Amino acid sequence: MTETTTRQIRQLLRERNAILLAHNYEPPEIQDIADLTGDSLELSIKAGKTDAEMIVFCGVLFMAETAAIVSPDKTVLTPRLDTGCAMADMITPEALKAKVEELGQMPVVTYVNSPASVKAESTICCTSANAIAVVNSLAEHELLMTPDRNLARYVASRTNKKIHYWNGYCPVHDQVTEQDVLIAKKAHPEAVFMAHPECPPEVLAHADAILSTSGMLKFAARSENRSFIVGTEEGLIYPLQKANPDKSFYKVSSSMICRDMKRTRLCDILNALKTTTHEVKIPRIISEKASIAVKRMLNVTHG
Ligand code: 13P
Ligand code: SF4
Repeated sequence: MTETTTRQIRQLLRERNAILLAHNYEPPEIQDIADLTGDSLELSIKAGKTDAEMIVFCGVLFMAETAAIVSPDKTVLTPRLDTGCAMADMITPEALKAKVEELGQMPVVTYVNSPASVKAESTICCTSANAIAVVNSLAEHELLMTPDRNLARYVASRTNKKIHYWNGYCPVHDQVTEQDVLIAKKAHPEAVFMAHPECPPEVLAHADAILSTSGMLKFAARSENRSFIVGTEEGLIYPLQKANPDKSFYKVSSSMICRDMKRTRLCDILNALKTTTHEVKIPRIISEKASIAVKRMLNVTHG
């Protein structure tokens, strides 16, 4: 069954001149069949540079939206519509406008883990990998970061800017405790602790390296160390282990699972390709404004 489905998916991808993308947290069978795996922005940028006419994005909705913003001339499909992101859902453009009015005019730096409509109301976007560089690129001393309070507090600790933050968070990363880290470190005293900046400050205080998911993959591959405690969603252990079969990877906590990243099945991808659903359509006015914030970020990191 899986073999037939996989063959049909590959066939339809060729026929439709489509590219299949999978985020680093997706289940192993989805990562294995994908043309490209990576973090959300990296995937959108790489797909944008190909001559594929269609992008099938296995991840969560804000990622597929970002791909549509980066590649407005390509058709972007999400195999499932029920793949929201709890953190992206913690902010709306209306609430953001009200906050800016309350604080007074200042630049708004918005994490890519956000709806397109919020990116459209922002000055510049950032990712977990480039947030410090993005904030330092601004002429202003005072700014607002949305929607992740943990990423904002991490950046504030590494810059001398005055950072106001939105009180959003990723429930998967925010629930990790200092106690979880201490227990994992005691069980694996030789291991290096890699943490995602979406973790709370008291967890990041124990990290040997604070990295995005793709940053963790690069760090583990280059490191002389043989074992690592992984402070992010547990799906990342699969590509880490696959790329580094001689190294050991341990979860910092057994509850770091993002349900939305586990919903897509091979049959959903097949159905998406057969019926060209569900197309991610962003109103042009929003897409164009969001694109300005994304391009400003790319000028900082890829400029
Ligand atoms: P990355 O951009 O580091 O892959 O993070 C995505 C994400 O959803 C983290 O929770
Ligand atoms: Fe959103 Fe957190 Fe899931 Fe990432 S892990 S998609 S931030 S809920």
